[in-house]
Amino acid sequence: MEENFYNWEWFIQKFGILSKIDLTAYKRQQMERRINSFMRTQGAGDYKLFLDVLNRDRDVYRRFVEHITINVSEFFRNPSHWKIMEEEIIPSLLKEHKSLNIWSAGCSSGEEPYSLAMLCKEKKYPLAGRILATDLDKEVLEKATIGLYSQKALEGVPSVLIKKYFQEQGKFYRISDELKKMIEFKQQDLLRDSFSQGFDLILCRNVVIYFTEETKQKLYRKFANAMRSKGVLFIGSTEQIFQARDLGLKSVATFFYRKE
Ligand SMILES: C[S@@+](CC[C@H](N)C(=O)[O-])C[C@H]1O[C@@H](n2cnc3c(N)ncnc32)[C@H](O)[C@@H]1O
Repeated sequence: MEENFYNWEWFIQKFGILSKIDLTAYKRQQMERRINSFMRTQGAGDYKLFLDVLNRDRDVYRRFVEHITINVSEFFRNPSHWKIMEEEIIPSLLKEHKSLNIWSAGCSSGEEPYSLAMLCKEKKYPLAGRILATDLDKEVLEKATIGLYSQKALEGVPSVLIKKYFQEQGKFYRISDELKKMIEFKQQDLLRDSFSQGFDLILCRNVVIYFTEETKQKLYRKFANAMRSKGVLFIGSTEQIFQARDLGLKSVATFFYRKE
């Protein structure tokens, strides 16, 4: 009787209260697998014991949130897609508007918005304001704000840009203040919080992997509403928007969707 009571539904409800993360919006099978594997590392045999651990131990709680939100990122991730953005997408956006409003949604530890900032600096793209960079996870946002990266993390950054925009600091490289000033980092849950409006370019890449189809469609609709006309949404290399037309979006290149 007890065993059934402390089930998955019970856990996601309690965890939702503790963390404000809504696990009902994620694909159950993948999420359950990830959570169960983490529980095993903690020696917690059931959801009740595991929730006790999460309530008691902030460090385990923090690592668990990191585990389920999976915040791996890279500078200029999928370089060929960045090339399309640089050569086709941004020039077409600049034909519509004099300056650009850009948002990196699910920015993790900052590699994506800093890549954008470098590109904008190098190409002298006019920005309407700071690049907005948001994530659910406070820890990764702290890392992003500090802007300290290992040499390995910089593998995707051309050496000329490393020289220009990073300072060596022991074993690490610190991103320049010039780039930091171009970005506004902010905590935000894409599934619960309201969105700012008027974007020309939104990047939401490798964030929705564990969201249900229904959640994805809702999110893409919110992105479409948050863009100015002709705005472009740039998604991850394993992602696709089904029924884009119903959302007022049109595929303009693989992984890029324009608001009609
Ligand atoms: C794999 S990283 C992607 C980082 C970057 N966009 C990239 O492609 O390299 C996914 C990020 O999405 C964030 N995330 C997951 N669910 C979220 C939500 N509901 N709201 C905001 N961010 C979320 C995670 O915290 C994580 O940092």
